[in-house]
Amino acid sequence: MNWTYEDFKAAVLKLTGIDLSSYKERQMKRRIDSFISRNGYGSYQDFFSALCEDKMKQTHFIDYITINVSEFFRNPEQWDVLDKQILPMLLNKYRDLNIWCAACSTGEEPYSLAMLLSRHMPINRIKILATDIDANALEKAIKGIYNRKNVVNVPEDFVSRFFNAENETLVVKDWIKRCVEFKEHNLLRDPYPKQCHLILCRNVMIYLTENAKSYLYKAFYDSLHPDGVLFVGSTEQIILPQAYRLEPVAAFFYKRLADKRQE
Ligand SMILES: C[S@@+](CC[C@H](N)C(=O)[O-])C[C@H]1O[C@@H](n2cnc3c(N)ncnc32)[C@H](O)[C@@H]1O
Repeated sequence: MNWTYEDFKAAVLKLTGIDLSSYKERQMKRRIDSFISRNGYGSYQDFFSALCEDKMKQTHFIDYITINVSEFFRNPEQWDVLDKQILPMLLNKYRDLNIWCAACSTGEEPYSLAMLLSRHMPINRIKILATDIDANALEKAIKGIYNRKNVVNVPEDFVSRFFNAENETLVVKDWIKRCVEFKEHNLLRDPYPKQCHLILCRNVMIYLTENAKSYLYKAFYDSLHPDGVLFVGSTEQIILPQAYRLEPVAAFFYKRLADKRQE
């Protein structure tokens, strides 16, 4: 009997640890169906057998479903709020910050953050944990090679200070690369880091179901330091943040509310 999409999702979960049920179904199924037919497979089962036999195909498939589009300083006005309001607020109280950039894709976001932080603190004190589910994207992030189109939002002085121009590409300089540690991490499965003063998780929750988003909000609450702030994407405002004990401090920024015990 031919597999249904449900059978395929269960098999993919076992094989890769990725729970496709947590992603908006219509969008994800359409993407997967089109990938399968474009690659000439007749059924979910045939395609899954191919994934099991060939690790490269598996990597290519994961790369395709995870959607890695990113940009340096994506939505610059929000980075401005981070620069002028959120970072001064945190650094006024804490000398060093635990920073986590979740779903960092190909590195544009954590590198933007490291560059911005250099305005506020010495480079050797900047430490950012940057994670993503997609090993391929992380490999590109570690290389730090971008084209000029990727850096349109990067302030001019940052381009000359933080990149080496090599032919048509721009390569992030080693000393700024050293501020960022990249690691594989599945937001729907793996434990979260603790005591984060700042978490960026942008442009991944739009792909998730309501249940999965709710799981993430609760997990982010636990992951935040009592004074910590969560920075989300420009279409990802949290409806009813109080339900997750989060409080808006600016558009797209949420502060962890005090523990009940401390009130
Ligand atoms: C559109 S990119 C966003 C990149 C960056 N945060 C930005 O806003 O420019 C979405 C990223 O989420 C990652 N992702 C998807 N599901 C994930 C999961 N369950 N755990 C961790 N990362 C995930 C994808 O691999 C992809 O790199």
